[in-house]
Amino acid sequence: MREITDNWEELYETEVSQKLRHFSREGRMYDCLFAQQLTRELLEELFTIADNLRKITKTKEGADHASSLLSDKRAMLYFVQPSTRTFLSFLNACHLLGIKTSEIRDTSTSSEVKGESSEDTVRTFSSYVDLIIMRHPTPGFVEKTAWLMNRTKRPVPVINAGSGKDQHPTQALLDVYTLHKSFDGEIDGKKIVMVGDLKRGRTVRSLSYLMKNYKNVSLAFVSPKEFKMEPDILGFLKKHSIPYVETADFMSVMPEADAIYMTRIQDEHDTSGESRKVDYSPFYFKKEHLKIIKPSCVIMHPLPRRDEIETAVDEDPRAIYWRQERNGMWVRAAMISYIFKTNEKIIECCISNVSKILYDT
Ligand code: CP
Repeated sequence: MREITDNWEELYETEVSQKLRHFSREGRMYDCLFAQQLTRELLEELFTIADNLRKITKTKEGADHASSLLSDKRAMLYFVQPSTRTFLSFLNACHLLGIKTSEIRDTSTSSEVKGESSEDTVRTFSSYVDLIIMRHPTPGFVEKTAWLMNRTKRPVPVINAGSGKDQHPTQALLDVYTLHKSFDGEIDGKKIVMVGDLKRGRTVRSLSYLMKNYKNVSLAFVSPKEFKMEPDILGFLKKHSIPYVETADFMSVMPEADAIYMTRIQDEHDTSGESRKVDYSPFYFKKEHLKIIKPSCVIMHPLPRRDEIETAVDEDPRAIYWRQERNGMWVRAAMISYIFKTNEKIIECCISNVSKILYDT
């Protein structure tokens, strides 16, 4: 295999599959940066850890055990792009595992405002913490942070909590965890419809990458012509023989869908008000559409939403977006636990809890 350079620009341009070794240790994922790192085997392991964590934390004894697992660790949450649920779910995932947390949520409150480079800022974090979880508006900067960390004397793992327009791997992780739970572990063979601003939505990009892990999945991309899925994702799907259709006719794909994944318009990425020129209303899911979709179809959304899902839809049991955001906390805790290799302890505790319940009853 070609030796990959330590030159950042060259590394950044390298195809993802060729550079994953820079972000792994002892054959395990060390930094979580790309959805492509999440193999089916790893996904199933993370789902098991998340399920076990949910079980053990139902009792005070179990919750106390979980919060002792990583009580010697500290994490930095560096979220310099707005976030509600990714930030809160990571914060609470850390607390579930006993990790102490620090946060910066705005560069105006860090020494970047005094002219410190972003690179020096993130390097400073590694002087104090054992894990960096970050959301950043600049494409590639989370990856660059991981690359920088791996070259220092005190490397710490980095988790990508949303990077520019490119990737949001832990959102994709919680999305497939939600699909896995909704379909009793059977994502194979499902028809998944992704709707909205597919060009600039990092959640749909990362979720598309994860589809390579499942057999006979087919995708429909529903968007205005201005915001179609980017060619790099379509190329990836072709390479992995994942069939897809592209359409602007939402109604035409609703009846066959097993999951409908709605997204909002990503106008924060506008350069000249282009979002205002697009009629987004054909890409709304309305109460009347509940009659058209299958009884088993699930309606998802990474949230936050605007008008693309009518609030009247929320009461329908097929609307699972609130459950989806809660799943994020458990599966993100599972990811952190995996990175710090405490997953075995969660499984052991789960087994001992189950035997205790069986013995006591
Ligand atoms: N889904 C998601 O990333 O939401 P937040 O922007 O609220 O974190």
